[in-house]
Amino acid sequence: MKRYYITTPIYYVNSAPHIGTALTTIVADACARFQKQRGREVYFLTGTDENAPKVHRVAQERGVPTQQFVDEMAEVFAHTWRALHIEYDVFIRTTEARHTRVVSEVFRRLREQGDIYKGSYQGWYCIACETFFASSKIDQSRTCPDCSKPLEWRDEPCYYFRLSAYEARLREHILANPQFVQPEVRRNETLGFIGEGLQDVAVSRTGADWGVPVPDDPDSGVVYVWFDALLNYLTATGWLERGENYLDTWPPDLQLMGKDILPRFHATIWPAMLMALGLPLPERLYGHGWWIVNQQKMSKSLGNVYAPLEVAQSLAQASGCEQPYAIDAFRYYLLREMPTDSDAEFSLEGFEARYNGDLANDLGNLLHRTLSMMHRYFGGRVPQDARVDASIADLFAQQAARVTEAFEAVDYPRGLREAWQIIGAVNRYYDEQAPWTLMKQGNAERAGQVLYAGLIAARLLSGLIEPVMPQVARAIAQQLNLSAVPCWSDATVMNAIPSGHLLQEPTPIFPRLQTKTKTPTEAQAAPAATPTPLKEPKPMPEPITIDDFKRLQIRIATIKAAEPVPKSNKLLKLTLDVGGEERTIVAGIAEDYAPDQIVGKQIPVLVNLQPALIRGIVSEGMMLAADVDGKAVLLHPDRAVPSGSVVR
Ligand code: MSP
Repeated sequence: MKRYYITTPIYYVNSAPHIGTALTTIVADACARFQKQRGREVYFLTGTDENAPKVHRVAQERGVPTQQFVDEMAEVFAHTWRALHIEYDVFIRTTEARHTRVVSEVFRRLREQGDIYKGSYQGWYCIACETFFASSKIDQSRTCPDCSKPLEWRDEPCYYFRLSAYEARLREHILANPQFVQPEVRRNETLGFIGEGLQDVAVSRTGADWGVPVPDDPDSGVVYVWFDALLNYLTATGWLERGENYLDTWPPDLQLMGKDILPRFHATIWPAMLMALGLPLPERLYGHGWWIVNQQKMSKSLGNVYAPLEVAQSLAQASGCEQPYAIDAFRYYLLREMPTDSDAEFSLEGFEARYNGDLANDLGNLLHRTLSMMHRYFGGRVPQDARVDASIADLFAQQAARVTEAFEAVDYPRGLREAWQIIGAVNRYYDEQAPWTLMKQGNAERAGQVLYAGLIAARLLSGLIEPVMPQVARAIAQQLNLSAVPCWSDATVMNAIPSGHLLQEPTPIFPRLQTKTKTPTEAQAAPAATPTPLKEPKPMPEPITIDDFKRLQIRIATIKAAEPVPKSNKLLKLTLDVGGEERTIVAGIAEDYAPDQIVGKQIPVLVNLQPALIRGIVSEGMMLAADVDGKAVLLHPDRAVPSGSVVR
């Protein structure tokens, strides 16, 4: 059976991995894991682009022999990817002999058949992008239209690839195969690019003494790095070495990359090269958007380039989250906020907010509260005849199908939103059914039934999130005392945890983050890393005496239930446990918090405020929250405290 072949671009090794290259590689890893879960045999390729003149130049600047430099840098990439839980099958390097052989052979074949011909080149070259630009594409500033760096004038004999001959076939292929270039916005960009008319491409460079020499013509220099690099996808299948057997992998099913290298390179030159070779084209090219930092492109000169392992590590240090789970949290953030159609803002605050909100509060809390109640009420054993209610089971199945569909479409933000709907639904179900009240009423059977839905949700989620957070998925499965993370189809089987099954004691996977994450690069990345300051500090009011203060009774309450107040956008009705006493209050936080987000949380409440009638509801107190430019930000104790604890 043909393997499902997934590729990332091969990365230039002149600088270390950053959150941009990490994004493409993590997306590819998630896709590979997702396809494996779906029973496919996967071949996942990544690697390094080592023949580029700019790589050679950086090595020279550092005074290191280029081969030694690329050897070291390739190891930095491989190490970083492994540390980010990326399980590639092959790591290709373009300085490997097997690749050089493929480049030489393709060059020879295309030259023999007339698709590569000799001419001369006069034009503008961007060394940073390794790209020539026609004079018509540049303005008087003579800077690169892509990266704005100064262009160099080149006048040299060179070989050309007859790209123009493939223009019509390329356009037809893209029009006839809507999945070929995705997402839609990139497909349109590509059609626009081809629509401007395709020029033949210069595929050799003189003056460089690093790269694959032009075969049989040593005076013509080296093969153009993009022509060389694109062929890595073919080399890695064993084309040329394995006879027809390379077809067990070829063509690629999914080629992932950023938007910058899609229209011109991967969706035009690359398929045209394959057409010239008479080889089948990739099934799908997917180009994601870019991370921007504080509305600006990442760049060394701006000092806003984030190193992935440092970001994950600083979260681990600040939160006490174990390293593998912090790495998974980073993967989650990158995929949850992934730029798909357009660019997206990367920030440490955004990462912290997702960590505390989606991971600590939502996912972590669901598992923790479910297992805690199972232990408190049932000694940690699944009760007899527990079954998930039909309505909840339907919702689980429907959400799982939505997640699958979104992941298949490489839309991780949507897929993860759909997965998190399961958490919201279980929290709402707990509130409606109130297993704690059922227990008090002596209805243990029903309470067990309700909590069983939470267990099955946790089991399902471990399967659904495994492509994104493999170690967290394993930790959830372990706490549920399952032998392994259920695979995709198995995860959707309801009632799969048998009666009498013994659950582990819950251990928090994501301790809440109290302090701000700091990374070594943060000083440089200051604009994005500093919290937005308050617009206008409030003037300090008149002092009061301690006796004035003592008149206020502030207690910690646990939110048992929350619901919108009908016909109000601003108000939520909260049911609170204030230490053996239940209270209702109305709070103006509906614009800032959804009911699901806050159930189970502890908040300070002024309990001796005179009751007030608000929208027909008697509000018996007032919650205290931080006011940040008119938005409420809830305050929570440092650790769980008994409901009703006095604040003083
Ligand atoms: N070597 C070529 C690719 C050859 S593939 C045959 C190359 N290498 S690169 O090191 O520059 O890495 C490029 C990848 O990183 C691209 O997919 C690019 O889009 C991605 N990113 C680089 N900066 C990025 C962001 N700021 N945000 C997201 N991805 C970006 O190009």
